[in-house]
Amino acid sequence: MKIDTKCVHAGGYPDAQTRGINTPIFTSSAYGYLDTDTRLYQRYFNTPNQEAVVKKICELEGAEDGIVFSSGMAAISTVLLSLLKNGDHAVVQDEIYGGSHAFVEEHLGKLGISFTLTGREVQEIEKATKANTKLIYIESPTNPLLNVVDIHRVAGIGKQRGILTVIDNTFATPINQNPFLLGIDVVLHSGTKYLGGHSDLYCGVAVARKDIAAIIRKTASHQKVSGDVRKRLGISDNLLRLSVGIENVSDLIDDIRQALEG
Ligand SMILES: Cc1ncc(COP(=O)(O)O)c(C=O)c1O
Repeated sequence: MKIDTKCVHAGGYPDAQTRGINTPIFTSSAYGYLDTDTRLYQRYFNTPNQEAVVKKICELEGAEDGIVFSSGMAAISTVLLSLLKNGDHAVVQDEIYGGSHAFVEEHLGKLGISFTLTGREVQEIEKATKANTKLIYIESPTNPLLNVVDIHRVAGIGKQRGILTVIDNTFATPINQNPFLLGIDVVLHSGTKYLGGHSDLYCGVAVARKDIAAIIRKTASHQKVSGDVRKRLGISDNLLRLSVGIENVSDLIDDIRQALEG
């Protein structure tokens, strides 16, 4: 499939119920799950609309898996928090989007993550790496000066030294540049810009290899409280929560009666 056709069809599916040809939009924030293994929830990134968007961007970028966020900054900050930890060092291109720059400067140090801000030349980036460098962060073309980085060579430094490479690809869009195919590990977008294209959308996306996407998703989802903690708190698997004060209490009593009799 060529890229323009992928823009239209990748990741989408017709509506099974109405046979509408466009992917349906589901507005639910909660889904029934008692009889299924998978509990759908937006923060677990597994609802049909999230998956359709991610599949489309993965197809366009040539990546394996990804996560769609509520903003570009949510994607950027979550990726950095997922892939770096106390004691690590990051090499960060100085000329990046202001919000990303501020996040790095204001938050990484507090978490015990050191960083070096560098120019965009490959030699400068390489020179800034240290024994404990775990991540190189670049943006190309840059906002707002539209300067470019030699992405392939930066990816090469990462591969050679075992350092993860991350790029903000917002300004290029997947139509003009596919950094994942050039060897970059994580590709980020503020979907708020050209992915949306009409200034009527706010979102962010991170695409990567399956294993790296899984790490990012785990950090973002805060998915599980361990069985021990649940037990200590008195939360058993058969605990039933009733929406008293929301639905009419007599309807709730009827529901319980029907369940017990049925
Ligand atoms: C290159 C780039 N990256 C990231 C962002 C942040 O994205 P958002 O505004 O969707 O949080 C912006 C926003 O202007 C941007 O231009």
